[in-house]
Amino acid sequence: GDMAGMEHMEHMAGMEGSSSEGGVSCDSLTAPESTAPIRNFDLIAEQTTVKPDNGKTVKAWTFNGSSPGPELRVTEGDKVVITLHNKDIEDGVSIHWHGIAVPCSQDGIAGVTQDAVAPGGQFTYTFIAPTTPGTYWYHSHQMSSIQVSKGLLGALIVEAKAASESGSPIMEATALYQQLGSSILLNGSTKGLAVPGKPGEQVRLRLINAGNETMEFNVDGAPFRVVAMDGHELHEPGLLERTIVPIGAGQRYDLLIQVPRTGKVIISSPTANSLPIAIGSGSEPQHSENGEVFSFIDYGTPLPNDADLQVQPDRHFELNLGQTLFVKSINGKAFTDIPPMIVKEGEHVRITVSNTGGGDHPFHLHGHVFRVLSKNGIALRGSPVYLDTLLTKKGETYEIYLEANNPGLWMVHCHNLKHASMGMSMMLNYE
Ligand code: C2O
Ligand code: CU
Repeated sequence: GDMAGMEHMEHMAGMEGSSSEGGVSCDSLTAPESTAPIRNFDLIAEQTTVKPDNGKTVKAWTFNGSSPGPELRVTEGDKVVITLHNKDIEDGVSIHWHGIAVPCSQDGIAGVTQDAVAPGGQFTYTFIAPTTPGTYWYHSHQMSSIQVSKGLLGALIVEAKAASESGSPIMEATALYQQLGSSILLNGSTKGLAVPGKPGEQVRLRLINAGNETMEFNVDGAPFRVVAMDGHELHEPGLLERTIVPIGAGQRYDLLIQVPRTGKVIISSPTANSLPIAIGSGSEPQHSENGEVFSFIDYGTPLPNDADLQVQPDRHFELNLGQTLFVKSINGKAFTDIPPMIVKEGEHVRITVSNTGGGDHPFHLHGHVFRVLSKNGIALRGSPVYLDTLLTKKGETYEIYLEANNPGLWMVHCHNLKHASMGMSMMLNYE
């Protein structure tokens, strides 16, 4: 597409629109043949207005008329076929399946893995739902800092095949936070969320941070567990109380909460940057003083015979997320001047990610799941932690590990999408 003025600048700076280097293309990297059940969806992107429940009418860009768009639910192993139709978004639209290691050609990166879908056009995405059931999401990846904040996003839930075999039924609810214009919405509402639940019942709450800022949550009224991060179950997660859960932009946390005898749990933000969630309908729980901040460093228990930890890396990269004059930089440079990380299929890759300033930087890698090995030099000693988005705060350094098992051209960027558009974006490419 042909873009003018500022939009073109944003387009380039935001990564989308850069052509893949050296003419490498991932067009041929598509979903494998599969006889799995097919799940078909259509998502229609359009400019319209939404009416959140505060009575105001807000201009938004929507999928199927709402923001968030429809919650897509599939089962692990399904063949997922989703057709994106762009009704009238002038700059074009693409969709990225955040957290899902799709084949490169289906990753939705306008200008890299496909052209943005022009008004009147369509594009069909095909991928196999991962065998890690959990909480994921989707969003536009064309000029994403603009299009996501205008509303082009939604939840994507991968259900386990044997979901009903686990004995006691677990209720569940999705809580998707987004920033639409100047307001924070929770599942499209400006008021918060009420989740039904009777004393003794277990509720799995899928928290999705689809905004640009870190969100923090307090859980009052019952102890709880963090059972999954970024769609990946934690091993033997312990009970937490008076613990603040910080969720970086792009991240998902699944909490498991048992409704107490008093009947009610309130999840709210000590920093007031979110809307409250109430589970159950009993008497109001006492608000506890702010407690410790959740840390996955020693949460849960290690897996026995954890082979990953013995692996010697074939490649090691160091990335410094910071600020250089007016740009958000990686190793002192801004996109497109940051050299890509180059790997070969089959390699074991270690990356040291440091945050040297300029805010929280949720580090997001496409096409892969990475494992967090250490924080500030201290090795994780609890459950293995697998993420696609790692919240880094100023002064923190993490070591992560991944297997180069998904050939292609992949974006790496801060999921504060404003930062991404200000330069904090780069590529991980296969030789
Ligand atoms: Cu959810 Cu490249 O992003
Ligand atoms: Cu950032």
